[in-house]
Amino acid sequence: MSSKIAVIGYGVVGSGTVELFEMNKAQIEENIGRQVDLKYILDLKDFPDSPYADRMIKDFNIILNDPEIEVVAEVVGGATFAYNYTKALLESGKSVVTSNKELVARKGAELLKIAREHSCNYLFEASVGGGIPIIRPIYRCLAGNKIEEIAGILNGTTNFILTKMIREQMSFEEALKLAQQNGYAEADPTADVEGIDACRKICILGSLAYGKNIDPDKIHCSGISKITMEDVEYADVAGYVIKLIGVVKDTEDGKISAMVSPRFVDKKHMLSHVDDVYNAICVKGNGVGDTVFYGRGAGKLPTASAVVGDIVDALKHQGTNIGFNWADSDEDILLPRAEEESSVYVRVKGEDAESMKSAFSSMFGKLIFLERAGRPDNELAFITPKMKESEIDANLTILSHTVSIESKIRIL
Ligand code: HSE
Repeated sequence: MSSKIAVIGYGVVGSGTVELFEMNKAQIEENIGRQVDLKYILDLKDFPDSPYADRMIKDFNIILNDPEIEVVAEVVGGATFAYNYTKALLESGKSVVTSNKELVARKGAELLKIAREHSCNYLFEASVGGGIPIIRPIYRCLAGNKIEEIAGILNGTTNFILTKMIREQMSFEEALKLAQQNGYAEADPTADVEGIDACRKICILGSLAYGKNIDPDKIHCSGISKITMEDVEYADVAGYVIKLIGVVKDTEDGKISAMVSPRFVDKKHMLSHVDDVYNAICVKGNGVGDTVFYGRGAGKLPTASAVVGDIVDALKHQGTNIGFNWADSDEDILLPRAEEESSVYVRVKGEDAESMKSAFSSMFGKLIFLERAGRPDNELAFITPKMKESEIDANLTILSHTVSIESKIRIL
């Protein structure tokens, strides 16, 4: 008996999926206990020189209507065609595995329900953390815990850019170009740079951990495009590095707090040592305590590793839904950003730094003033005590009448 699979999308992840599957085909077949063949690769582009040119197709209906196809890897990305394809495939009882975090974050609850109703599976290990196993650990291995907090570096492109800027003084543009050449960045890298990709990922993890859909459009999200070398220097002197961090946790009053933003991370914190394209996700459970999942968060074969793992799992559970699930939710489950409590680094420019110090302290309370080599007289940087974001914003609005607010970065 032999099983047939198909891949939709022959970009970085799709070609990696095909390459890894063919490379390890014999071992995969032994694991599953039957022969498995890649029957189709769907892409609108032509690849006449590809060794798989004989399997390239352009018509989705060939896959949908082929009863031999059991599992389809959707690695095309986006939430329009991918949504229509995925829905139709699941409704016809074919399992779909994906790296498409946008679709999982937006339509996960609906697609998981369709998969359950049709005794097939919608699997998305590759949607968060590239090659890092994190979906099953949260949903399965840590199921005996109440998840208290998930915090992580969830975007390989931005971590690569920040590492190059901080360690090699490379410019933002150069580092981004290199990340694109390495196949880390999204088709439109704005999604990486502005934190949107990390936002989708933290929403997926939060939805899994708390069982309710967390809408990526409803949580605060800021990226790294406004980080300057001055901020990097202040962070360094004060004992921090700057990282783009996603955090999700539940609060005592039953709300969910979720956010993506650049953070000052203490050099003693494990996440401060996660560099280049690597991602790391800290998951805290009330039984297990702290756990950390680490690995390559983007790139062709690391992401393909997770996609092919899901193909194997889907083939092994042909005809049985393995139970991934979260509820769609219209309720107001999120803690408003104004209610979040943070300590923040602020950098301002004004008249004379020394004269600003006492006025600022009387507004915020006890401030930690920071130094850097060559700090101009008209620049002041400080870290506030932990306080409600609404209070911080109100104070900064008042300050903005007399000084220019150059940066505001939360402390992890
Ligand atoms: N663009 C994403 C990243 C790819 O850089 O992390 C992996 O999801």
